[in-house]
Amino acid sequence: MTTVRVRGALPAEAAILAELANDLNDHVGIRGRPFTPERVLADGFGPEAAFTPLVAELGGAVVGYAFFSAGYNTDVAARSIVLHDLFVMPAARGRGAGYALMAAVAAKTVRAGCVSLEWGVHTANAGALEFYRRLGAVAAEVRVMSVSGERLRALAEAAP
Ligand SMILES: CC(C)(COP(=O)(O)OP(=O)(O)OC[C@H]1O[C@@H](n2cnc3c(N)ncnc32)[C@H](O)[C@@H]1OP(=O)(O)O)[C@@H](O)C(=O)NCCC(=O)NCCS
Repeated sequence: MTTVRVRGALPAEAAILAELANDLNDHVGIRGRPFTPERVLADGFGPEAAFTPLVAELGGAVVGYAFFSAGYNTDVAARSIVLHDLFVMPAARGRGAGYALMAAVAAKTVRAGCVSLEWGVHTANAGALEFYRRLGAVAAEVRVMSVSGERLRALAEAAP
């Protein structure tokens, strides 16, 4: 059986990361394929990175990725890690890559002294929900809100 290897992504892998991140957006019905290699390079690498990218390899080829960043769990007043994205190419699924990526992010969470690893999942994403349930994850009944574009600017203009 081919072994899965998880490691930090390299800047040279920005193009494959952008493609996979866009494929994940497609998978959950988000249109526009917003990721470009330049965006991944700017936001995922260097001292100002907004997220840390990991890749999973099977037989030496990249088949999946995870993006995570530092967070804070105000329920228990302690640092946490937030998982933004997790994706394995359809042809490589069911071979342990997704589990290995989650285990790697969990290991980083524990090593950083964080109390929890948190993420959001679309409620219609039944496969992912079952995958996460098997990992021992529990769901919190919260609704993620966001404000953007004109509405964000209007709200910002109300700032004193
Ligand atoms: C969810 C995902 C990352 C799982 O990756 P994977 O490499 O196929 O998962 P693994 O092979 O490591 O499976 C780990 C375990 O989860 C189970 N599992 C994986 N996908 C599952 C699914 N869709 N439904 C039910 N169980 C699933 C496996 O059977 C395995 O269980 P076992 O240990 O009892 O055998 C992958 O299916 C994927 O990329 N899906 C589309 C993108 C997505 O939904 N990402 C999550 C966004 S929040």
